[in-house]
Amino acid sequence: MLSREDNELLCRVGGGTEMGDLLRQYWLPFLPSAELPEPDCPPKKVRLLGEDLVAFRDTRGDVGLMAANCPHRGASLFLGRNEECGIRCVYHGWKFDVSGRCVDMPNEPAESTFRDKVRARAYPCRDVNGVLWTYMGPRAQAPAFPAFEVNTLPADHVYPPLLMLEECNWVQALEGDIDSSHIDYVHAKLRPDVKQRGTFHQDKRPRLEVLTTDYGACYSARRRWDVDGLYWHRITQFILPFFSMIAASDPNLVSARAWVPLDDNYNLQIMMRGRLDRPVTDQEREQTRNPFAGWGGYVEATSEPYTRYYTKANIHNDYLLDRRLAKNELMIGIPFLVNLQDRAMTETMGPIYDRTQEHLGTTDAMVIFVRRRLIEAARALRAHGVVPANVDDGSMCRVRPASVLLPEGDSWISATEKARQSDAGVPIAWVRFGQ
Ligand code: FES
Ligand SMILES: [Fe+2]
Repeated sequence: MLSREDNELLCRVGGGTEMGDLLRQYWLPFLPSAELPEPDCPPKKVRLLGEDLVAFRDTRGDVGLMAANCPHRGASLFLGRNEECGIRCVYHGWKFDVSGRCVDMPNEPAESTFRDKVRARAYPCRDVNGVLWTYMGPRAQAPAFPAFEVNTLPADHVYPPLLMLEECNWVQALEGDIDSSHIDYVHAKLRPDVKQRGTFHQDKRPRLEVLTTDYGACYSARRRWDVDGLYWHRITQFILPFFSMIAASDPNLVSARAWVPLDDNYNLQIMMRGRLDRPVTDQEREQTRNPFAGWGGYVEATSEPYTRYYTKANIHNDYLLDRRLAKNELMIGIPFLVNLQDRAMTETMGPIYDRTQEHLGTTDAMVIFVRRRLIEAARALRAHGVVPANVDDGSMCRVRPASVLLPEGDSWISATEKARQSDAGVPIAWVRFGQ
């Protein structure tokens, strides 16, 4: 349970809020690179941390992200012309480069220096392995770029990102990834022989243990394995401010999930995945473009960010719930496709769940820890100007999740110490999941 004040602090991300300030210390992924496929292509509307922005790729291929309203008199830069290394507002012709500098002011006297005094609010961007990132913070020099393993693999080893818009607060969505207990319920099939994808485990009462780290935390959810004497540890990472890596289930896949707040009531899940063993094939790339094809796919996007990566199955049609499927095969009548089942749980809590109403149990240990960590980090920044260590150390996110079978009494913390580091030179510790 959280007090009303703490819940507000935790969830709100707009400019000037405590949590908004914390998030703005970090590089944030915000759009797949494919949304700006080539130099001088049409700009895209972006909503991020409650700000309306416009993204464009200039003639040199550099990406700009700036306030949607022109600094002259506020006309839409989305309607602007993206040409010759800048975006030109079509109202009076003022033109801005990716850094926000006004490079042309054609309606003022030729001798005027007014244009040197005007700047558009612009945020630096990076285009890394298929994902666009930005830094919206106060520093003149952006901090180190996060060296997630998926960001440093050769580009051809990385899949196009998987994307899903969620109509709820980002913390609710993030909490779903650090809550192992739900895998035995919302992702479960009713019998082991059901053909649909789903989980089926004997032990549905996991014991959680949280390990604090300098970049956030990781935890193990321990269950009895079906072979006597063995225990299964699902080890999931949380990396400040909103990244998760769920327990490994493949010997070659590395990944990171981001729960990116568009604003207080919407978040975009960006799942980045790459292979250690080989390049991704064209066919595999194609398959990732519409991960919800089996359940209606995406609605056709307009220019509005809220329509992008928004699935046909959504809260307004009960996610196309099939009660027959729920009666005969799955716990819930929605298939186990990416995080659709999870989303049905987190969105129906309401846009921002009132956490004064909840009753937390032992399996919520990681959720409790991560909330506290976020709240403390936001308060420390506001009160003392202190940022978490991983803001300035881009290598701290070089970690892996793990999944291991261990004899009773063995410590998962020491057993997986190397497996939880990207650069320790050991294989991924994995157990197959969700057949
Ligand atoms: S409002 Fe953009 S140039 Fe005038
Ligand atoms: Fe889940």
